[in-house]
Amino acid sequence: MKSVFLSRFFILLPWILIVIIMIDIDSKRAIRSPAAGRHSRAPQAVRSGASTQGNRNQSALPMIYAITPTYTRPVQKAELTRLAHAFRQVPRFHWIVVEDSTVRTELVARFLAGCKVPFTHLHVFTHRRFKRAGMPRATEQRNAALAWLRHHRSRRDSGVVFFADDDNTYSLELFEEMRSTQGVSVWPVGFVGGRAYERPLVSGGKVVGWYTGWRPDRPFATDMAGFAVNLQVILANPRAQFKRGGSQPGMQESDFLKQITKVSELEPKANNCTRVLVWHTRTEKPHLANEAKHRKDSVLIEV
Ligand SMILES: *[C@@H]1O[C@H](CO)[C@@H](O)[C@H](O)[C@H]1NC(C)=O
Ligand SMILES: *[C@@H]1O[C@H](CO)[C@@H](O)[C@H](O)[C@H]1NC(C)=O
Repeated sequence: MKSVFLSRFFILLPWILIVIIMIDIDSKRAIRSPAAGRHSRAPQAVRSGASTQGNRNQSALPMIYAITPTYTRPVQKAELTRLAHAFRQVPRFHWIVVEDSTVRTELVARFLAGCKVPFTHLHVFTHRRFKRAGMPRATEQRNAALAWLRHHRSRRDSGVVFFADDDNTYSLELFEEMRSTQGVSVWPVGFVGGRAYERPLVSGGKVVGWYTGWRPDRPFATDMAGFAVNLQVILANPRAQFKRGGSQPGMQESDFLKQITKVSELEPKANNCTRVLVWHTRTEKPHLANEAKHRKDSVLIEV
């Protein structure tokens, strides 16, 4: 009886081992599949073989790379949540989030992992001496994102680069407008320059000046949210950067755009710059002065 059992067991043993090895190889392959690490997965629909007509068209669209510098503050997660709600609905979209921090913070890492937008999570710390009032902000963070694009994208990739600060509100239409950017495109921005909106003045389909409440002498009197750049222009101008030294507050956009384009070459979007599709809304700073006076909650809750 015992020997019958043993001989059956030895006949089955090799087969059991083969099955175990197959399962092991399979699961390793799953773990190693493309989106390992910090980058999120590409949208399922685009990856799947059984793509519909709509998906096939989508994969032909230039990718929109939105660069968002961000820093730790009470409203950070609320701001990023508002952005994600819009970005999630934009096809062929890649969010490059750059924290002003010595590390990737857990709050932002957790947020991005669950935001359902394909993303890259970077960080670079700006020293305190560069954070005084009147100094240009987020310079290092934007440059880190440009460096990432130059390192990870090539002449084969079609795309449009846009600087999506986290204190703005974005219409979905804005992304469809910017997607056709060949060089550098421009459009109006609401609630900037001390006015209801700023906009490029357009005549005969060309930008001829700027409608603004503040320093109209700026070569490019536009906000960070008022332009987009074709990815190939970023790659073809490897030294184009945001500048800290010599850049006056409010001149970052002009100092950057001067390096890659001319006013006469700008492509007006949003109906020849007559529609506002992005607003510098900002979120009111919450009044938390009394927070320390109150009894602490019994649980630690992320805000
Ligand atoms: C996809 O693209 C083709 C040609 O490029 C066009 O005829 C068709 O209408 C598009 N389909 C959708 C759903 O946009
Ligand atoms: C913009 O203006 C140009 C020149 O006047 C005109 O040809 C073009 O159709 C306009 N574009 C839009 C979207 O209104």
